[in-house]
Amino acid sequence: DRTPRIFSGIQPSGGLTLGNYLGALKRFADGQGKVETVFCLVDLHAITVWQDPAALRRQTRELAAGFIASGVDPAQSILFAQSHVPAHAELGWMLSCVARMGWMNRMTQWKDKAGKNAEAQSLGLFAYPALMAADILAYHATHVPVGEDQKQHVELTRDIAAKFNHDYGVDFFPIPEPVIEGAATRVMSLRDGTKKMSKSDPSDASRINLTDDADTIAQKIRKARTDADPLPATMDGLKDRPEARNLVNIFAALSGEPQDAVLARFEGQGFGAFKPALAELAVEMLAPITRRMAELTAAPDEIDRILQDGAHRANAIAEPIIAEAREIMGM
Ligand code: ADP
Ligand code: NA
Repeated sequence: DRTPRIFSGIQPSGGLTLGNYLGALKRFADGQGKVETVFCLVDLHAITVWQDPAALRRQTRELAAGFIASGVDPAQSILFAQSHVPAHAELGWMLSCVARMGWMNRMTQWKDKAGKNAEAQSLGLFAYPALMAADILAYHATHVPVGEDQKQHVELTRDIAAKFNHDYGVDFFPIPEPVIEGAATRVMSLRDGTKKMSKSDPSDASRINLTDDADTIAQKIRKARTDADPLPATMDGLKDRPEARNLVNIFAALSGEPQDAVLARFEGQGFGAFKPALAELAVEMLAPITRRMAELTAAPDEIDRILQDGAHRANAIAEPIIAEAREIMGM
């Protein structure tokens, strides 16, 4: 069975940023309707680093609210928490026995997160990409929409799927494609155009949170680092101006236009003109999402019911696939 199926996940490890929205959530919502879409709140990934239990529970519901507020429709898509479907942990272990230590060692995200203190990290943080492979392969997913930062992990998933198929002499796991497209596959920090916008950046001014109010959003954009040059006619003119490029990319992703169409309107003008227009657009797009998230998080029982229903439907797809994987492996 190689019917197209989209799978992706986000960690419930803190607030959502404009990077998560443009690089993931908005694209998840846009991808619905054409093929089956499966979206997972990856709590088993979140616990690879310490999570306060009460905070994790709250953040999982908030993340579900973020998905729905961004346009992911739980009737059209399967939306669920990873730990509610046992297939993830079980296939994660099986694939840990297929993947090689050397492959994990080469992951740049592991190197970044472990830093100089790899010995003190959890074993789970090191094995994370094998669990991510299981997340994708448990659904025989064919397409994985992610931001640029996750490309290497999806490539590893392909290697793990291919090694499993080869070792067991089967054509069982489809080789999934990363889908990395659009103007905002890598939204950068508002304070430093060389760093990605992230919920873990200590500077709150570096990011726009989906929970920020209109004034905060406008202020962060006004204070975003830029240069003093006017905007050029095309993106080619922004090669050495990462901060300017980032703001134009954000504008294009929010408005749904090509970057050059945005530049055509602002050519020759400086950021004194561009920033207020961007702030207005960002507020117009994000305010309804912020409002809807607040409404949803005020009704936790409703969110729990949605996640329970999602887990039920996810399990119905994954369990037969895991049963077959067990069978193939001789268990
Ligand atoms: P984070 O990187 O914020 O900790 P996750 O690792 O859970 O969040 O990533 C969730 C999704 O959001 C992934 O698809 C990731 O590629 C995407 N993403 C995260 N940050 C950005 C960003 N700055 N620009 C574009 N996409 C991003
Ligand atoms: Na990430």
